[in-house]
Amino acid sequence: MAWIKSLQLHHFRNYAAADLTDLPCGPVVLCGANGAGKTNVLEAVSFLSPGRGLRTARIVELQNRDTELTAAPWSVSALIESAYGPVRIGTGRDGQDDKRVVRVNGDAAKGGQSAMTEYLSVLWLTPQMDRLFQDASSARRKFLDRMVFAFDPGHSGRMTRYENAMRQRARLLQEAGPGGTDPAWLSALEATMAETGVAIAAARQDFVRKLQQGVERTPADIQAHFPKARLSVRGTVEELVRRVPALEVEDMLRYQLQESRGLDSKTGGAATGPHKSDLQVIYDLKNMPADQCSTGEQKALLIGIVLAHGRMIAAERGAAPVLLLDEVAAHLDENRRAVLYRILLDLKTQVFMTGTDENLFSPLTGVGRFLTVDSGHLKATTQGIAA
Ligand SMILES: Nc1ncnc2c1ncn2[C@@H]1O[C@H](COP(=O)(O)OP(=O)(O)OP(=O)(O)O)[C@@H](O)[C@H]1O
Ligand SMILES: [Mg+2]
Repeated sequence: MAWIKSLQLHHFRNYAAADLTDLPCGPVVLCGANGAGKTNVLEAVSFLSPGRGLRTARIVELQNRDTELTAAPWSVSALIESAYGPVRIGTGRDGQDDKRVVRVNGDAAKGGQSAMTEYLSVLWLTPQMDRLFQDASSARRKFLDRMVFAFDPGHSGRMTRYENAMRQRARLLQEAGPGGTDPAWLSALEATMAETGVAIAAARQDFVRKLQQGVERTPADIQAHFPKARLSVRGTVEELVRRVPALEVEDMLRYQLQESRGLDSKTGGAATGPHKSDLQVIYDLKNMPADQCSTGEQKALLIGIVLAHGRMIAAERGAAPVLLLDEVAAHLDENRRAVLYRILLDLKTQVFMTGTDENLFSPLTGVGRFLTVDSGHLKATTQGIAA
């Protein structure tokens, strides 16, 4: 059980202020015209997890344009019903900076953004993700890691440590060259990268194995609508951790990093590591790589993965993640939509859904909370509310 009981936005995108209370651990349906502010609410929720949210935005872009002059920084605050009881998570812009801060029960969170993954997991599907299988590997890697956060809350902290060490190493190499002025510091950073890098790869492998087991258990009637995917992680370190003991892989990665200092000082990155890995998806029944499937097939595959993830996480950790489904309903035919709603209700999790047409959600009348969005204002839709 982990869901959002209430949500407050301040100076966020097109909202001066918004207050959603008594949210159910079930469907929350947001309807309204184009540009009303539906996706913005989902984006606000996505900031209750680490990263740059569902639009990969810059922190300053989120600031409500009308209040920028008064310099009241944007914030998102939520009361979470978590496995540890009620917890208030707040996040927002840090003064004038392009930086965001996280508070847990009013105090600056130790561990920063990663602290949120202890209390809440959030996973989303947006129209932009229709191109996930065509996109650069970084998009799929982010999607994979976000799914891993829900499975293994420590994953986010490891990612941060790895990325920080990689960034500092790149800076040292660029400033001082491969010989370096401080070889001990360089080696220490590479040791951190090797250690966290192997842990990241191992967590991804472990997760994908579990997810695939979950996919295999998908009932046939669901598979008929959301086809089965075959998933694997492609990456040098991930392939090594499957065959070689972790400590040995760590030594290998450290050695490789040391050897690639010359090259890395020119490129500004690191030649090998889990920051290069990719998630490979195959449409199992057709044995077809996802990027070569039809648009509709790709969408169905992706929804199938998210639903299998929800079921697996619910089984492993007691609660599925909060789902943000931006305009997902509109692109499914009536049958598929009915199956989707049935699975979502079975997951017993909180699902925020958006659409321009309220009729799409009529099967959820009485079980969901319906809200109308109008130019940055939210109000309850009378006909939809029952529960
Ligand atoms: N920083 C900001 N300050 C004020 N308004 C903003 C800011 N950023 C975005 N907006 C506006 O917020 C509005 C609502 O955007 P949003 O993406 O939430 O719409 P939507 O309801 O999801 O529409 P659609 O149905 O087209 O997807 C847009 O008109 C956008 O221009
Ligand atoms: Mg939208």
